[in-house]
Parts: sequence; structure tokens; C-alpha cells
Amino acid sequence: MGLNILYLLLLLFATTAHHHLRAAALPLSTNSRWIVDDGNGGERVKLSCVNWVSHLDAVVAEGLSKQPVDMISKKILEMGFNCVRLTYPLFLFTNDTLGSVTVRQSLRKLGLIESIAGFQANNPSIIDLSLIKAFQEVVSSLDRNNVMMILDNQISKPGWCCSDFDGNGFFGDQYFDPDVWLKGLTKVATIFNNSTNVVAMSLRNELRGPKQNITIWYRYMQKGAEAVHAANPNLLVIMSGLSYDKDLSFLQTQPVTLTFSQKLVFEVHWYGFSNSEEWENGNPNEVCGRVVDSITRKAGFLLDSGYPLFVSEWGIDQRGTNDNDNRYLNCFLAWAANHDLDWALWTLAGSYYFRQGVVGMEEFYGVLNWDWCGPRNSSFLEKISAVQSPFQGPGLSNTRPHKIIFHPSTGLCVQRRSFFKPLILGPCSEAEHWDYTAREILTIKGTYYCLQADGIGKNAKLGIICTDQSSKWEPISASKLHLSSKINNGTIVCLDVDSENNIVTNNCKCLTNGNTCDPASQWFTIINATSGSSAAKGYFPISSILQSFGANLLV
Ligand SMILES: *[C@@H]1O[C@H](CO)[C@@H](O)[C@H](O)[C@H]1NC(C)=O
Ligand SMILES: *[C@@H]1O[C@H](CO)[C@@H](O)[C@H](O)[C@H]1NC(C)=O
Ligand SMILES: *[C@@H]1O[C@H](CO)[C@@H](O)[C@H](O)[C@H]1NC(C)=O
Ligand SMILES: *[C@@H]1O[C@H](CO)[C@@H](O)[C@H](O)[C@H]1NC(C)=O
Ligand SMILES: *[C@@H]1O[C@H](CO)[C@@H](O)[C@H](O)[C@H]1NC(C)=O
Ligand SMILES: *[C@@H]1O[C@H](CO)[C@@H](O)[C@H](O)[C@H]1NC(C)=O
Ligand SMILES: *[C@@H]1O[C@H](CO)[C@@H](O)[C@H](O)[C@H]1NC(C)=O
Repeated sequence: MGLNILYLLLLLFATTAHHHLRAAALPLSTNSRWIVDDGNGGERVKLSCVNWVSHLDAVVAEGLSKQPVDMISKKILEMGFNCVRLTYPLFLFTNDTLGSVTVRQSLRKLGLIESIAGFQANNPSIIDLSLIKAFQEVVSSLDRNNVMMILDNQISKPGWCCSDFDGNGFFGDQYFDPDVWLKGLTKVATIFNNSTNVVAMSLRNELRGPKQNITIWYRYMQKGAEAVHAANPNLLVIMSGLSYDKDLSFLQTQPVTLTFSQKLVFEVHWYGFSNSEEWENGNPNEVCGRVVDSITRKAGFLLDSGYPLFVSEWGIDQRGTNDNDNRYLNCFLAWAANHDLDWALWTLAGSYYFRQGVVGMEEFYGVLNWDWCGPRNSSFLEKISAVQSPFQGPGLSNTRPHKIIFHPSTGLCVQRRSFFKPLILGPCSEAEHWDYTAREILTIKGTYYCLQADGIGKNAKLGIICTDQSSKWEPISASKLHLSSKINNGTIVCLDVDSENNIVTNNCKCLTNGNTCDPASQWFTIINATSGSSAAKGYFPISSILQSFGANLLV
């Protein structure tokens, strides 16, 4: 046994993986549904972005009156994002008069005396630059700090976006002349041709309004993509759907035709309020099932058609007081983890210079606090941290394909911290690796040990006789996010967590009906993974060694 323990320690040392954030070899391209880099064979790059608003009335990136631009770039990385979706109004690049207004003049025109003082103090080298040059300075800062960027044409006329009748919704609207737009895209792609970390352009945000027309969508989106590609062939080109970027279903029957390949990505938006108050008024299982079904038909299908799908806007009120948002978030995280999607959180800003007529408006969806000096809610950041890293994709297979069990309401995964202790929730980077068989048995990879239900309120355990009903785990309810099993007397139980994050089984809660009950503690999803840390792999030799000694694993 002594020898075996020595062997085990050596193995643990030898396989300690460094889960550091490697800078991607740019430019990026696509490999079926994955975005990959330019390294050997093309390794997956997961876009974990945050939106940085630069399209409002002041036409300058928000927050520069609160913090120096490099500080903000660094905070973005510190919070675990590797990328920014930087928004801009088209007219910044197509109206030379607007582009040459200075930041100081722009703020003064809006009467933002306090912002001018703050801007002067925090970014004195930017305040007297033209609005175009100021935008370029923000790009340079992100570039210097190795933050990837997606330049997003949010709107034409500077201001808060979006409504059906704001004149910015669709080709042919008052402020949306397709030719002006094409010129603008070319200009942006050209100006940032040499900014290595500008990896993509999203052609136009949230197409919408009464003029929407699929034929015209194809005509101009294809032209827009060609214009960007001609000016800068390195960029990914990102296309938004109709109806506020909630609907790409028309692509099921007619693909986009372009002269180039491996650069096309689609984007979709999904908020809690996308379904008004349904989350709060309905049963969360039923709403989650219905909404995921709908988003799959309208956008999710693109993954199976071999295109990356970038969820370029999602987010919640981070005060945690909006139940509609809270319930949506658990469903969203399960979906995003399950498909290992690329995404951009809405939003970075803790507050705005001026939004919708309000000076210094606070943004409760912002990851930064009002003065942009730290996270608004670190527990929110912890909760999303699991989906900031890729679980799978080309070049990421440092382990064989396996499953991990993700718990969206905590953002954690099922883990075995020590050999004899009960299963618990822990960071997904240290998740236990499982196989999930056709017979719905969850076994620890490389062993005979399977997950078993032991009773109501009891720890889920690991056993080796895996043929009875308590070893079978079936996803149930309309959300398919409850993992149910049966205890010996036939009672159905669901996987759950107790107050100390131990994995237990309990009576299944709020499977149907009623909006008063929130099932989230019982929501788990079994996700595909090909990358994982050695912490979990380390168990493999332990169990094999014990098995070879015929030891029984009692947990
Ligand atoms: C261009 O921008 C200037 C300054 O904001 C504005 O006064 C003018 O109306 C704009 N022109 C067009 C054609 O939008
Ligand atoms: C990009 O860099 C190349 C080579 O240094 C230069 O020729 C080109 O003009 C630059 N483009 C822009 C838009 O600055
Ligand atoms: C969409 O635009 C095309 C091309 O202009 C036109 O022929 C068609 O009638 C329009 N469809 C609708 C539903 O308006
Ligand atoms: C953009 O840069 C690439 C390589 O850096 C170069 O080949 C291309 O000509 C440039 N395009 C423009 C319009 O400057
Ligand atoms: C952060 O979010 C959590 C969970 O939603 C909430 O309970 C908490 O009050 C929030 N904290 C702050 C400082 O808003
Ligand atoms: C997970 O992998 C299995 C087996 O390869 C596959 O059938 C399934 O579609 C994958 N699930 C997702 C959500 O990609
Ligand atoms: C089965 O066992 C559980 C837990 O001991 C108990 O609560 C439940 O009433 C039992 N059900 C039946 C049908 O005996």
C-alpha cells in the first residue's frame, strides 16, 4: 500500500494542470460550431465577454469619468472576462462633424459638468481628443491589455437602444440608410485593421420594427459581411437576427451565402424580460422548458447546423431583488453551460454619464458598481465564473470525454473533495468526471462506482451494485433539470443540495403548477466536457488502486 500511495502522489504531481488563461493566437476563425484560434490545429477560444457601452448620447465609452481607461481594462480581466463587446453608434464613423467633436465638447453639450471634472481627473489625455480618437484610445487600451474586442454597431444615431419606432430599427428606417451603414462598416473595419485584439465585428444590433423583411435581411447582411471582410479579412463577422435579435429561425430554410468561409458567427439575445413576467408568474420548470424550446427553434439549432452562436446580450439585475431575473438566470446558466456557448454579459457599466435623459444613472445590470471601482456583486461573478471557461472544443482535450454535473443556482459542480467524504458542490474546474450511460447510470469515470439515492434528506452515495432503481438518474420535469431517482420503497426523489452544499436527495419540488415555489436548488444539468483539471483526474488512480485491492468504497 505504501508504494501505491507514493505512486499516487507522484501521479498527482505529474498531472497537476495549469489552468491559466492562455492568450489566444489571433486571428480567430470558426470550426463548425466552435470559434478557434490560429495556433496549431486551431484551439477553441471561448468568448466570455462583457458589453461596454459607447453608443449613448455622449458618444464616448462609459466610465471614463470614474476610472482611468487602463484600470477598467484590467478590471475586466480580473473579473474573468477575456473580451469586450464594445458598442458604437454608426454616425460616429459616418458623420465627420460628429466624429471630430471633442469629448469635452460632447459632455459639455449635455451639461455634464461633473463628468467633465471626473474625466479630466481620470483620463486627462483623452478628454480633448475627438470622439473618434477617444474611441480608438479605448480600443488601444483593451488591445494593450490583451482583451479581445467585438465592435458592435448598436444603433445609428447616438442614444439608448432600442425601440420599434426609434428610426434605427431596420434598413430603410429614418436613420438607417443601408449605403451609409455599409460605408461605416468598411471604415470601422479599416481603422481597426491593425488592432490585433479586435477579433470580430457585429454588423448591427437588434434588427427590429415594422420594416423587417427577410429578403432584405439577406441582401444587406450579406453585403455588410462582405464589406467587413474586404476591409479586414481577419475578423469574424457576427450577424443579428430579427425581432430584437431573438429570431434567426429563417436560417433553417435558407443559409447565408458569402464569398468567404470560416468567419461567420450568429448572435442572439436572451433576457428575463424577453418573456415579460413569465418567470415570476409561472412555474419555473414549465417556463424554462418552454423558453429553451423556443430559443432552440429560433437560434439554438444553428449549433447543430455548424455555426457558432454568440449570446451577445444576457444579464440580470444584480441586486438579486428581481425574481423574474433570478429564475431566468438559473435556466439561462443551465442552457449556456450545457451548450458551452460563447457570450457577452449585459453589462459592464456601473453607471452612465447620461442615459434616457437621466444624469449619472445607475445601472443595476452592471458588473461594476456606481463608481466603477469594484464588482457590484461578487456572488454574481462567482455564480457565472464556471461558464467563463470552456468545457470542451477543438484542442481542449486534456482528458477523455466525460460528463460533469453542473448546479446552475450556485454555478458549482458536483465534486468529491476527499475519498471518504460525501459528494459536495465545488468549482467546476475541479468537478468529478462521470460517465452517463444509456441506462441512465452515473458512474465515476474509470471506476465501477455509481451515484445512488439513499433516502429522503440523506447524502447521495456511491455504490458498486448499480443495477437497482436507486442507481438510475432520469432528468424530469418540463425543464429536464431535475435529476430523479427512486429509493428502495419506490418513492421518487430528486438530487438536491443541503445548506452546506452537500449533495443529498429530497422529495422533488415544484415539478409542475404554481409560481410560488422555486425548484432551483434541485436543478442540475449533466454536461459534456473534454477539459478538466487534474484534481478530479487524481481520483482515478485512487479508485483503481483500491479496486485492485478489492476495497469497498463506502461514503
Ligand atoms: C452630424 O453630426 C452633427 C454633430 O452632432 C449634427 O449636428 C448633424 O446633424 C449630423 N449630421 C447628420 C447628417 O446626421
Ligand atoms: C496597418 O499596418 C500596415 C503595416 O504597418 C500599414 O501599411 C497600414 O496602413 C495600417 N493600416 C491602418 C488602417 O492603420
Ligand atoms: C420584402 O422585400 C421584398 C424586396 O423588396 C419584397 O419583394 C417583399 O414584398 C417584401 N416582403 C414583405 C413581407 O414585405
Ligand atoms: C489589413 O491588414 C492586413 C494584414 O495586417 C493587410 O494584409 C491588409 O492589406 C490590410 N488592409 C487594409 C485595408 O489596410
Ligand atoms: C448579490 O446577489 C445575491 C444573490 O442574488 C443577493 O442575495 C445579494 O443581496 C446581492 N448583493 C448585493 C450587494 O447586491
Ligand atoms: C453531449 O455529447 C453527446 C455524445 O457525444 C451528444 O449526443 C450530445 O448531443 C451532446 N450534448 C450537447 C448539449 O452538446
Ligand atoms: C418511503 O420512504 C420514505 C423515507 O423513509 C418515506 O418518507 C415514505 O413515506 C416511504 N414511502 C412509502 C410508499 O412507503
